[in-house]
Amino acid sequence: MCTRLGAREKAEGGKTSATPPLAHRPTTPPGNFELLLTTARKAFLKPSASVIARYPHRRLQSSSMAPTKDFRLLCLENPLLGKINFVTDSIGAIHARFPHSQSPLISGVFTAQYEQPLVLYIQAVGNQELLDKYELKENDAILAEEKHLGLYEDLLNNYDAKLIAGGAAQNTARGAQYILPPNSVVYLGGVGDDKYAAILHDAVKQAGLRVEYRVDPEKPTGRCGVVITGHHRSMCTDLGAANHYDLEHLKKPEVWSLVENAEAYYVGGYHFTVCPPAIMELCKQAASGNKPLILSLSAPFIPQFFKNPLDASAPYWDYVIGNEQEAEAYAQSHDLGTTDLKEIAKALANLPKVNKQRKRVAIVTHGTEPTLVAVQGEDEVKEYPVHNVLKEEINDTNGAGDAFAGGFCAGLMEGRPLAECVDMGQWLAGLSIRELGPSYPFPKQTYKSTL
Ligand SMILES: Nc1ncnc2c1ncn2[C@@H]1O[C@H](COP(=O)(O)OP(=O)(O)O)[C@@H](O)[C@H]1O
Ligand SMILES: [Mg+2]
Repeated sequence: MCTRLGAREKAEGGKTSATPPLAHRPTTPPGNFELLLTTARKAFLKPSASVIARYPHRRLQSSSMAPTKDFRLLCLENPLLGKINFVTDSIGAIHARFPHSQSPLISGVFTAQYEQPLVLYIQAVGNQELLDKYELKENDAILAEEKHLGLYEDLLNNYDAKLIAGGAAQNTARGAQYILPPNSVVYLGGVGDDKYAAILHDAVKQAGLRVEYRVDPEKPTGRCGVVITGHHRSMCTDLGAANHYDLEHLKKPEVWSLVENAEAYYVGGYHFTVCPPAIMELCKQAASGNKPLILSLSAPFIPQFFKNPLDASAPYWDYVIGNEQEAEAYAQSHDLGTTDLKEIAKALANLPKVNKQRKRVAIVTHGTEPTLVAVQGEDEVKEYPVHNVLKEEINDTNGAGDAFAGGFCAGLMEGRPLAECVDMGQWLAGLSIRELGPSYPFPKQTYKSTL
């Protein structure tokens, strides 16, 4: 999902004052989104014949006589445009930037894979002069300081910058919407009142995803500047408005009615860095309505540094999804005394639970290794081999986990058995890693169960 800024936009230099507020701006996609949009519209799928055959009760809900209830899946995380990996040089930097973080259980240099939903990647081929100007290293991933903030406009105005929308839970939400009927998924998060937010808005609209952004009048939309020099990449991220989502937005009547209307909730773990109270509201809503809450651990630093808010939400998880590193980080920070992934999955599944009407399911993905699934109260941890994707077909494995979660959630929303939900997650992840960036192929492909 990418575009380039037009000449006029470049001339405006991205100044927010030149553009009307986001809420009043028409949402027609900029020029080169249009083809994709048309393709996307054409490709929007009704439930596949195989789904209807297997789940005849869905047919009624999906026919034009009895329209499917809209926006059954609600997703919450922090919108930014793009996706970032950053390396911080100190634990202190984490605390300074994330007020909800806690004393680390480990000390020393902290390396985090950090990925935010809804950042705008502003990516261009640069040169040494540009790197020097902003004191950037040729191969690095950092959070922006004051001295870096000019980089984004510099890339837009003076380099041939490409804009790419991305982000963890947003990729998941797009993934679920890719599979489900139109108007199935709504995504919440924070952006600024600027042209970057408008671009994000249009990009997700293309994917058929409804977004309800908290628009911050002061903070810019999250951006990640990517300077490419040869084979090197220097990434510099300003989290901006994504860091300022608040409970007030969630409780606005028009947003809260979406929460009440939804039948399932997906929370990206990165949101523990922003607004744990909003997560808790969704947790309680899920439990009181016996609706599933799906939580992604998102990154090893979430269980390490955001242990208290994570643990407060744990009794409300109906599904918890993490990759092998996140599972290991959870085990370490919670003193489980094991590095065995099956044991960790089991421990996650058997944490205390508020809603006793649903057994918790813990899912641990592990790249090309089988996906592990533990169910609360069950002894056996099941293994599901992943879908084979030929090496030469793989373009980008970043975001595989997000895509897995998207396919998994879509399976849940379709009422499929657990094994098929996992299979659907693996299938969508397989599609996504064949694409460049966190995206899904068009024309759309249809999942066919082989189980
Ligand atoms: N090289 C690969 N070949 C096939 N499937 C893959 C590959 N890498 C990832 N996947 C699929 O994506 C899922 C999630 O990948 P994983 O690496 O565990 O997550 P993350 O992106 O969070 O690190 C896997 O369970 C698998 O189904
Ligand atoms: Mg991985």
